Parts: sequence; C-alpha cells; structure tokens
Amino acid sequence: MCGIVGYIGPEEALPVLMNGLKRLEYRGYDSAGVATIDGGLTIGKKVGKVTELEKLIAANPPGGTIGIGHTRWATHGEPNDINAHPHTDQFGEIALIHNGIIENYATIKKTLESDGYTFRTQTDTEVLVQLIRAFYDKGNSLERAFRLALKSVVGTYGVAMISTIEPDRIYAARNGSPLAIGIGDGEYILASDASAIVQHTRHVTYLTDGEMAILERDKYTTKTIDDIPVTKEIEEITFDIGELEKGGYEHFMLKEIFEQPDTIRNAMRGRLQRDESTVRLGGLRTVTEKLRDARRIIIVACGTSWHSALVGEYMFEQLAGIPTEVEYASEFRYRDPVIFKDDLVIAISQSGETADTLAALREAKRRGATAIGIVNVVGSTIARETEAGVYAHAGPEIGVASTKAFTSQLMVLALMTVKLARMRRMGAAEGAQILKAFEELPAKIEETLAHAEQVRAIAHTYAGARNFLYLGRGYNFPVALEGALKLKEISYIHAEGYPAAEMKHGPIALIDENMPVVFVAPDDDIYEKVISNIQEVRARSGRVIAIATEGDERIESLAEHVIYVPRTLPFLAPILNVLPLQLLSYYIAVERGCNVDQPRNLAKSVTVE
Ligand code: AGP
Repeated sequence: MCGIVGYIGPEEALPVLMNGLKRLEYRGYDSAGVATIDGGLTIGKKVGKVTELEKLIAANPPGGTIGIGHTRWATHGEPNDINAHPHTDQFGEIALIHNGIIENYATIKKTLESDGYTFRTQTDTEVLVQLIRAFYDKGNSLERAFRLALKSVVGTYGVAMISTIEPDRIYAARNGSPLAIGIGDGEYILASDASAIVQHTRHVTYLTDGEMAILERDKYTTKTIDDIPVTKEIEEITFDIGELEKGGYEHFMLKEIFEQPDTIRNAMRGRLQRDESTVRLGGLRTVTEKLRDARRIIIVACGTSWHSALVGEYMFEQLAGIPTEVEYASEFRYRDPVIFKDDLVIAISQSGETADTLAALREAKRRGATAIGIVNVVGSTIARETEAGVYAHAGPEIGVASTKAFTSQLMVLALMTVKLARMRRMGAAEGAQILKAFEELPAKIEETLAHAEQVRAIAHTYAGARNFLYLGRGYNFPVALEGALKLKEISYIHAEGYPAAEMKHGPIALIDENMPVVFVAPDDDIYEKVISNIQEVRARSGRVIAIATEGDERIESLAEHVIYVPRTLPFLAPILNVLPLQLLSYYIAVERGCNVDQPRNLAKSVTVE
C-alpha cells in the first residue's frame, strides 16, 4: 500500500528511484512521482503506472544524486497528477512522500490555513509537509521540525523527506508502515521493502514504529522521534534478484503458480524429522511448552491468509484435537475478544505488514496470549513482533493475487499440525504416514499443473460469464472461498464461495443455465454428500466444473468438465485442489484482457486499516 524509495550516494538518483518504483509498484499503482535535488528541487509526478511517469520525465529527467520516489494507492484524494506524491511545502523547498493515513489531518489543516498556509491538494500528506514547514518557520531546525510534526499527527506513516534547506540529507520515519534502509558501499537506499534494495546491497536494517533515520553522504543515524539514539541490527537479505523477475512467464502470477512444487519443497526443507516421525520447527523452539499446553488456538488473518487459516482450523481440530477459532483480523480487535493466558494466537500474513492483522496481533499480546506468526516476508513487522513463528519460505510474491504464499501457508499449517498432534495424541505410525504424504506433494503439484492447457480451454468457455459459484465442503470449503476470491480479484467477475450444503439455503436461487458452478469434490468421506449437491445444481441446469480425484470416473457423467488432481491425505488436498482454481482465474482474466498482476483498486500489502 504505497511504495516508498529514497537514494543518496555517488550515482544519479533517478535510475535507482525508477527501478525501485518498478519493484514496489505492486504496493500501489494509482500514480507515481519522484523528487531530486540538484541545486533546486525538481519534481515529476503523474497519475497511472510508473511507465506513465517514465514517459513524462523522459525529455527532462530530474538530475542529482539524492532523491525520493513514491508509488501511490490512493486514500485521501482521487488518483490524479496533483494528488500524486511527492508533496511539497508552499515554498517548494521540502518534498515529502508518505505511506499511511494521517487521521487528524483535517484539524491540522484548518489551523495551518488560519495561519496563512495554503493547500493545493486533498491529501493528508500535504498537511504533514506543511506542518513540518510551519514548525521550521517557527525557528526550529529542519530535523526538529520533522520530529515535532510527526509527534503532532495521529495515524500511520512511513515517510521520507528531502529539502533544499539541507540538500544532503534524507529524513525518514515510520509508524505503522514499513521502512527498510539498505546500507551500501558509500550509498544508502531507503525503501518500503527489500525488493527495491537487493540490487544495490544485501545489508539492510528495518525501522520500527516511532523510529526515524537521517541518511547523509557518509553516514546514517537512527533515533526515536523523541530524539533518543537507537542502535539497529544489520540483517542480510535472503532472496535473490532473480526471484523478482518474471523469468520468461507472461505474468508474475503465472510464474508464481508454477513455482509451487519448489515453494512447497522450501516450506518443508529441513523441517521433517523422519527418525521421530514428527516435524522440527526451529522458530517455535522457545514456545514449545506453550504449544503443548495451549487450550485454544485463535488464528487472525485477512483475505487469502484468512482462507488458509480456515483450513488450519480444520487441521488443528481434527488431527491435534485443539479447539480453534478463526477471526477476521479486522473484526477481532474491535469486538473486545475474550482471551485467556493459555490461548495461542497465530497471525498469518504473506506480507507480514497487513495493518489489520498487525493490530489484531498487538491486541492479542496486550491481553496476554502467546502470539506466533506464519509469515512469508522475512524481517517484516509481524515476523518481528511475534514471540515465535514459522516462515512460509515462498520467496517474494509479486502478483497482487496471492497463490504460492497460500499453499505455503497451508504447508506450514500442516507441519504445525503434525508437531502439535505428535506432542498430544498422534502416534508415530500416523506421523510417519503423513511425512511420506508431505514428501509426495511436490510431484503431485507438478502433475496437477500439467493440466494447465485443459484449464485454459475451460477458461475460454466461461470467460464471458457474469457470475460464478464455488462450492466445497470440509477442508475444501475454504478452497472454494479462495477460488472465488481469485476470480473476483483479477477478472472482476462476481463470484461467491459457499459450503456446498449451504447452497440450498439461498444461493441455489441463482442457478440457471448461465451459472458456472465450480465444485471442489475430492473422493473423501463427504464425497457422496457433494455428489448430491452436484445433482441439485444439474437439476437446475447449472454448468458444473468439478475438481475431482484421479480415477473418479463417476463424476464424469455429472459434470460438464472434470479437472483431475492426484489423491493425497484429505487435510493436504486443499494444496492440490486450489491449483486448478488459481489457473482458472488466471486464464479467465487474461482472456478478458485484465491486468493480472496489478488488478484495479487492489494493493499487495494493505498497510492501512
Ligand atoms: C490475496 O489474493 C489478496 N490480495 C489479499 O486478500 C491478501 O491475502 C490480504 O490482503 C492479506 O495479506 P497478507 O497475507 O499479506 O496479510
């Protein structure tokens, strides 16, 4: 949700900024802008994608070896050229970029207006830069003005500022929106995440809430916004630049779908403890006793991660016998949840930055629960704020629609389930059987993805549909929800996911000869029930697309299309069953000419509440 980049060093800043903006574009793509200093302050900003900005500045590129850049996901003020960042004070001496929301901007704006400051945009960010100016005009140093302004605002921010008043400094600060500082050889790169940094250096440090940094040509300083010095740990970026490229695929989403045999291998790597028929999760070592004794698990998450949490609920209850509740993170914090000291709260997040999930996590911690994370992005805020956790190790996920992170989350949940179950009630023989099934998964994923051409043909048939229903039961109900979400997100077709048996309580009214209904119908212990639901749809002329277990010939007489998936243990089936649904949404979106990797209105990392 908004991408921020900054550069100070010996090179021209602009190429570094533009490259960084392209890497961060998945965070928001309503508009983009840059500011550099080369004597004076030069600003270029444009509504639309980074390529639009590129065209705008091509003839007259802003020069200088210090600069900041921003890609926007609009909150306050419609996406247009004027509301694009950077924003400046009224004298054009200070330029600021911002990710987050200043909640009290209206009150501050009113006061500043009565003091004679004039505004050009509808953004909260312009209010912040003018407030810094106002403090500066009162005789404070620029640094003190920056700090005083940040202390006066309520809300969230990741900000970066340059100014002709101090032309060799970048000021940055964070409260709720991520900021990383890449420490290069004689240069510093500031960014919302490491993807914009890795090309320059692997050494990185992450600001935490309430901290700020001053980047200069020969040094950087970190402190709190109350001016207390902070020494930061320098970490290593663990992924490679190649993981940020499309690698020959037309879209990141397709690449990420086809990466899943590897990402599932990576999620398991070093974690299967065959001699004891269990799982070793190093990140949970410090909470082993709490895991063993927890009386209840509460999982908080949003979107796709919430769907994996629902699968996790079934896994924890069925295999480990632990009562589990799944909460929308956005609801959890505002409903005064009852939390006991022996509750285990798990936050699931691909980005590790989702504001709602982070807030829910903090609330759970405040109420005394043990909080752990299942996170993909290494070093992200949720990863750092949880007591313990397990990384999904799916690698950078660039497509806004989550695919490989979802299956990796499921894999981690399955690993955790075995760990918990073996500590509680599962015998070694069952543990060994599950470990074997884990090891067979990557090959089965490959086999499933080999059906891509068949899925593409089905997508061609239904690309014009206006509605879709996705139905499944048990472990596969969340898969139905996920299939529907994928389709909505990238093809803008209305789709609903439902528990198959609930269909007759309402959605059945929607079914006619124009309604494609996707059934996730593996051959498990509720197979017969799902078959009855398929019959009910057929009786009303609905068009059935079934995801079924290899060898199930019976379903062919009931469904118009059958996509086969290899057999696995029921609790692992969602990892395979979701693959054709990811492909289906992808091919439909491509067929409809949609922007698959950057669907309208969405952003990869939702850092506002
Ligand atoms: C997934 O396709 C979505 N773009 C979205 O629902 C996402 O899963 C959600 O915003 C949560 O993100 P997180 O996993 O990074 O916390």
